[in-house]
Amino acid sequence: MKSLQEFQQKEKELLMPTYARYPLAIERGDGYFLYDFEGKRYYDFLAGIAVCILGHNHPAINQTLARQSQKLIHVSNLFFQEEQLKLAEKLQKYSGQRKIFFCNSGAEANEGAIKLVRRYFQRIKKEERYEIITFSNSFHGRTLATLTATGQDKVKDGFAPLPAGFKTIPFNEVQALEEHCTSKTAAIMLEVIQGEGGVNPLSPEFALQIKEICKQKDLLLIIDEVQTGIGRTGKFWAHEHFALEPDIITTAKGLGGGLPIGAVLAKEEVAQAFTPGSHGTTFGGNALACAVSTTVLEVLERENLVENTQKLGDYFYIKGESLLQKYPQKIKNIKGKGLMLGIELQEEGKKIWQSLLNKGFITNLTQDKILRLLPPLTIDQKAVDAFFLALEESFKE
Ligand SMILES: Cc1ncc(COP(=O)(O)O)c(C=O)c1O
Repeated sequence: MKSLQEFQQKEKELLMPTYARYPLAIERGDGYFLYDFEGKRYYDFLAGIAVCILGHNHPAINQTLARQSQKLIHVSNLFFQEEQLKLAEKLQKYSGQRKIFFCNSGAEANEGAIKLVRRYFQRIKKEERYEIITFSNSFHGRTLATLTATGQDKVKDGFAPLPAGFKTIPFNEVQALEEHCTSKTAAIMLEVIQGEGGVNPLSPEFALQIKEICKQKDLLLIIDEVQTGIGRTGKFWAHEHFALEPDIITTAKGLGGGLPIGAVLAKEEVAQAFTPGSHGTTFGGNALACAVSTTVLEVLERENLVENTQKLGDYFYIKGESLLQKYPQKIKNIKGKGLMLGIELQEEGKKIWQSLLNKGFITNLTQDKILRLLPPLTIDQKAVDAFFLALEESFKE
C-alpha cells in the first residue's frame, strides 16, 4: 500500500469519514523532517498539531520507549506508579505546586476541568454556581461538554441537545464580560492565544479585566494550555506572558512529545473537590506515556528549548514582518508568540498552502486565511530561512 490513491480507497472502506486529510501519506519522520512513501522530504512546520515538540525519531524518546516498554507499559490506576509520580513531581515544579490529574488528550483534560469546577462549587463552596463563560473562536475539544464550551458553531452542528451551563461571549471585548457574569457564573475558561480559532492573542486590557472579574466575583479561571503549553510560546505556559494566575491549567499535545497524555493541574483548594471514585480513566497517566513525557521535559530543560523557542519566534517574527513590508498585498498580519505563529493572508490561503506543500513545507490553514505554524521546538534558523524562501516563491507564482 504505497500510492495516495490506494490510501484513499482503503480508508474509504475502513474508516469513518471524520477527517479531511492532506493529500499526503507519511511513512517516517526524523528531526524536523517528514518523509512520504516516495521518499520526498517535507519540513514539518506543524509537528502533529503542536504535539511533537522534540521533532521525530528523537534518540532520548526512543531510548525511554525501549527501556520502559520492557519494564512496564500499563497497569491501570488501581496501582501506585513510579513513572506517574516522577512526571507529576516535574510538572508540579512548573505549576506553582498545583495538584495533577492525568488523562489522555486535550478534550479529556478540559472535560476534567469542567467537572472539577462543578464539583468544587457543589461540594466545597456549597453554592449553586455552575455556568462557565467561554469565548468566540475558542476551541476546547470534541466531547459533548468541550464542544459546547467551544466558541465555534461548526463543531456543534448536528449534536443537539448540548449540555447546559455554558455561555460563549465575544473574545477580547471588555464590556461583554462584565455584562454576562451572573450569580450562576462559576468560571471563565480560555486559551490566552487561540489556536484553531486563528492564532488570536488575548489583549492586555482583556487579561486585566479577566483578572479583576475573577477576583471580584470569586470565579475560577481555567486556562486551556493544551496547544500553548510546554514551551510552545517561548514560556513554559503561555499565561505567563499575560501575568494571569489560573486556578486550573489544562495541558496535553506537547506534553507527551507524540504519546497521548493530558493533564489537569489545579490549586490545592480546588483539587480537593475530587475524591476517590469521583473522576477517573483507565489509560490516563500510564507508565509508558508518563516515562516518555518525563523525558520530553528533561530534554526541554537540558537543551534550553523554551529559550530557543523564544529566540526563534523573534527571528521568525522579524522575517515575517519584512516579508509583509515587501508583499503587503499578500500578507495582512503576523501574529502569535514563540513558535505558535499565524501568517494572516489577505486572501483565502488554499493555493499558498498547497504551493508550500508542493515545495516540501507542511503548514496548516485555519479560518481560511491564516497559515498556522507550529513547528517542533527543535527547529533552527536554517529551517525558518528555508520556509520564508518557499513562501516568497509561492507569492510569486
Ligand atoms: C486549545 C485546545 N484545547 C483542546 C483541544 C483538544 O485536544 P485533543 O484534540 O487532544 O482532544 C485542542 C486541540 O486542537 C486545542 O487546540
